[in-house]
Amino acid sequence: MKLFDVYPLNDITIVKGEGSYVWDDKGEKYLDFYGGHAVISIGHTNPHYVLRLEEQLHKIGFYSNSIIIPIQRELATKLGEVSGKEDYQLFLCNSGAEANENAMKLASFHTNRKVIVAFSKAFHGRTSLAVAATDNPQIVAPVNQTDNVVFLPFNDEVALETYFKEHGNEVAGVIIEGIQGVGGINIAAPTFLQAIRRLCDEYGAVYIADSVQCGYGRSGKFFSHDHAGVNADIYSMAKGMGNGFPIGGILIAPSIAPKYGMLGTTFGGNHLACAAAMAVLEVIEQHNLLQHAQEMGDYIMGELGKITALQNVRGVGLMIGFDLPEQYKDLKKNLLVKHRIFTGEAKPNVIRLLPALNIGKHEADILINAIKAEIVS
Ligand SMILES: Cc1ncc(COP(=O)(O)O)c(C=O)c1O
Repeated sequence: MKLFDVYPLNDITIVKGEGSYVWDDKGEKYLDFYGGHAVISIGHTNPHYVLRLEEQLHKIGFYSNSIIIPIQRELATKLGEVSGKEDYQLFLCNSGAEANENAMKLASFHTNRKVIVAFSKAFHGRTSLAVAATDNPQIVAPVNQTDNVVFLPFNDEVALETYFKEHGNEVAGVIIEGIQGVGGINIAAPTFLQAIRRLCDEYGAVYIADSVQCGYGRSGKFFSHDHAGVNADIYSMAKGMGNGFPIGGILIAPSIAPKYGMLGTTFGGNHLACAAAMAVLEVIEQHNLLQHAQEMGDYIMGELGKITALQNVRGVGLMIGFDLPEQYKDLKKNLLVKHRIFTGEAKPNVIRLLPALNIGKHEADILINAIKAEIVS
């Protein structure tokens, strides 16, 4: 049997990782400024994380959600503390798409309405409703197409206001990434998020903050929506939550009441996944990684801003992007092949930087010097 060939691959086999570095099977060392799609939040093989998982594995790895799993409750408490959303409720699942799927389903259950408002260039995942709310027709199968999702232009307050005036009473939820990732590092304006909050309150709709990529400390605050001073009704999370161990979840405001059977999962919230998520939060807390992400992000964006060939250097914390002029369109490939640095991209010409939250200044300088070397060469 062979693998279903859906991923264009770099011809590299990574066999080892430590902190912000990975090594291939030939012993070559690479600097990781991508974290495998923003997943590595506290560094590869973080010692506390490895120990936490190892200890848990020796006790029990999995049992279903039909029994009490104390580590889920510990995780809910710790998440409340670190995120500042102490009065929210936690539902655990396994991935970002699943988190958004549950968030939108819950918004529909809660309001007894059908319409989901999403925005241009949004990416919310590949399951049925999540992909329907994703602004990329190429990945929406005919069976996923639905009139229940309406796309409005990103950061356009007038269009949002107009839509709500006409259809607000039909809207179950509004889903938005605080900083669009796959769409190319587009920052939602604080006033736009505040308008969503106000309109959701006015019309009884649910504000869903897709925080799968921009959340979990990446922006320097726990949720990027916190920068706008608003509270969403539901936050979806995944990626950095388990530092590579598959876990996702939604934080649900106290105003949304649960009912038995409303949501469910076999694997979600298993002991091992919770141990991984606990380790991540403990490291974030112990090492003050929110502040560190903010400081390192400011430093990196400041340095990138001095390289005049890079256009529209933008971001918040350690979610950073810039546009490449045509003559430097091979920068990502050159950083990888010549400098052994992994970065991300967004089509057609955006470089995305999504390093671990504990990336050091030394590593930032390696990246910046490599970019400078490519830009002048
Ligand atoms: C903002 C956002 N939401 C949802 C997802 C889907 O997450 P997953 O791939 O874990 O299903 C992604 C993945 O890139 C994402 O960036």
